[in-house]
Amino acid sequence: MRKLLITIDGPAGAGKTTVSRTLANRLNYNYIDTGALYRGVAFEAKAAGIPSNDDKKLEDLCRRLELKFIRNEKGTRLFSGTSDITDQLRTPEMSMMASAVSARPIVRQALLDVQHKMGAEKAAVFEGRDMGTVVFPEADVKFFLTADLKTRAKRRYKELAKKAPQNLDNVEKDMKLRDQNDSTRDTAPLKSADDAVLIDSTDIPVEGVVEKMMDYINQKLSNL
Ligand code: DC
Repeated sequence: MRKLLITIDGPAGAGKTTVSRTLANRLNYNYIDTGALYRGVAFEAKAAGIPSNDDKKLEDLCRRLELKFIRNEKGTRLFSGTSDITDQLRTPEMSMMASAVSARPIVRQALLDVQHKMGAEKAAVFEGRDMGTVVFPEADVKFFLTADLKTRAKRRYKELAKKAPQNLDNVEKDMKLRDQNDSTRDTAPLKSADDAVLIDSTDIPVEGVVEKMMDYINQKLSNL
C-alpha cells in the first residue's frame, strides 16, 4: 500500500499529541512531535544561558545541536547528542521558551532541514504548527485540529496535574498567550493550510477524532 505523509497542526492542548500517536500506531507509521524539537532547542538554550532573542548564539547552538528521535523500551524519546532529554521538555517554562525560540527565523530554518530529512521516507504523522503550510505543503493528507480554549486548558491542567500541578487559571492564561505568540509571529505562524481538514475536538474524544481521520485517510488511499 502507498505510504502517506500526514500532517496535524493546531493550537496547544487540542489533543494533537495523543491523536497523532494513536493514528501513527494504527497505520504503523512514524510519529514525529515537532514541538519536541522546539522544546529541545529551548532546553539547550537555557542550559547554555542563551536568551531566546539572541539570534547569533541561537544560530551557533542550532549548528552544533544534534537532536534525534530514538525508539526504545520507554517509547519514542528525544535525544540531544547522547542525552535523553524527553522528560525535561513538557514543563510550563519549556512551553513558553519553546514558543519564544520558535519565533526566531534562524531556529525555524535550522529545524526545517531536520524535519525534511525525517519526512523523506513518508509513512509518517507530523504534528506541529506549520506542518501543512510551510514544512510539508505537499503532504498527502492535512488536518487542523482545534478545540475551544477552556477545553484545551482543562486537558493541559489534567496532564500537568500528574507531574507538577498548576492552577487552572494560570494554565489557561499561559495557553492563551502562547497561542497568540504562535499565531501572530511573522515566520510560519500557526494557521490552517487551505487544503487541511478542520476537526474540532471540543466534544469528541480521542478515538472519535482518530476515526474521523482514518475515514479521510482511507478515502485518500482508495483514490490513489
Ligand atoms: O506542540 P508543543 O506545545 O510541544 O510546541 C511547543 C512550542 O513550539 C509551540 O508553542 C510553538 C512551537 N512550535 C512551532 O512553532 N512549530 C511547530 N511545528 C511545533 C511547535
